[in-house]
Amino acid sequence: MSNPFSYAGKRVVVTGAATGVGAGLLDVLAEIDAAHVTVLDVKAPTGPHDTFLQTNLGDEAAVDAAIASIAAAGPVHALFNNAGVADTQAPATVIAVNYLALRRLSEGLLDHMPQGGAIVNTASTAGGQWAARLAQITELLDIDDWAKALAWVDASIADIGTMPYFFSKELVQVYTMRSSRPTIRRGVRTNSVCPSPIDTPLLVDFRQTMSDKMIDWNVSETNGRLVTAREVATVLAFLGSDAAAYVNGVNLLCDAGFTAAMTTGQVDFSGLA
Ligand SMILES: NC(=O)c1ccc[n+]([C@@H]2O[C@H](COP(=O)([O-])OP(=O)(O)OC[C@H]3O[C@@H](n4cnc5c(N)ncnc54)[C@H](O)[C@@H]3O)[C@@H](O)[C@H]2O)c1
Repeated sequence: MSNPFSYAGKRVVVTGAATGVGAGLLDVLAEIDAAHVTVLDVKAPTGPHDTFLQTNLGDEAAVDAAIASIAAAGPVHALFNNAGVADTQAPATVIAVNYLALRRLSEGLLDHMPQGGAIVNTASTAGGQWAARLAQITELLDIDDWAKALAWVDASIADIGTMPYFFSKELVQVYTMRSSRPTIRRGVRTNSVCPSPIDTPLLVDFRQTMSDKMIDWNVSETNGRLVTAREVATVLAFLGSDAAAYVNGVNLLCDAGFTAAMTTGQVDFSGLA
């Protein structure tokens, strides 16, 4: 019987693999026999891969060009929408890279994904409060057009009640659930991983935008250490593999139980005062 965790013979696409979680994922994929990995990033990756498409995921035309190039090369068995940016960048860039590009790649490559294929998004615990904004999230998800979606963001983001990064990850969590229905009808699963703060270069940006106090409190209220890029990457790889064949529409927490503790009233907020 074949190993359900193996990527042998599969073609894989990973966004955002120059550093952090995506770089960790390249190593993990190589260890589980992935030989055909295409990376989309602004920076060249150093980890194992066979094709690099330098792509600015904040640029609609660049994303469409990447989709055309990937589609021409053959089927895609697993798509990892992992790239992300923080609120150190403009709100339109945050929404475009973290949500619009992820959506465009998922929908643009779906026709090229065989039965048993998987889309895996890197969301975040930062998107955990999506229920509070479901009406606005649905309004934006209903806009297919990239430019019109950005016009909506431009008009509404100041009144949304949370930071653009948090909103982008709420969009990813709800989009993951919503799109999992049409994709499974085509035999393709869609899931996300929701990590708490990760020990990657992006954490420097989060310390700037969310404050050291917030990040350190989160860590101390979890298990006293950050999750590593590799610990997130192995969960991504699991969801993209045949081992998760009946898992669809799930936003899988990778937060050492922080959200569970919040939900059951066990988190001490005094450290935030
Ligand atoms: N670091 C954290 O604390 C944390 C927590 C939860 C979720 N996440 C999410 O994890 C994912 C990976 O982030 P990371 O922490 O590994 O950060 P990172 O900065 O190390 O990696 C992000 C990658 O995306 C690439 N990238 C950035 N902008 C791009 C663009 N416009 N076009 C193409 N590629 C671009 C970068 O070059 C880099 O390779 C992101 O979606 C992030 O939102 C991070």
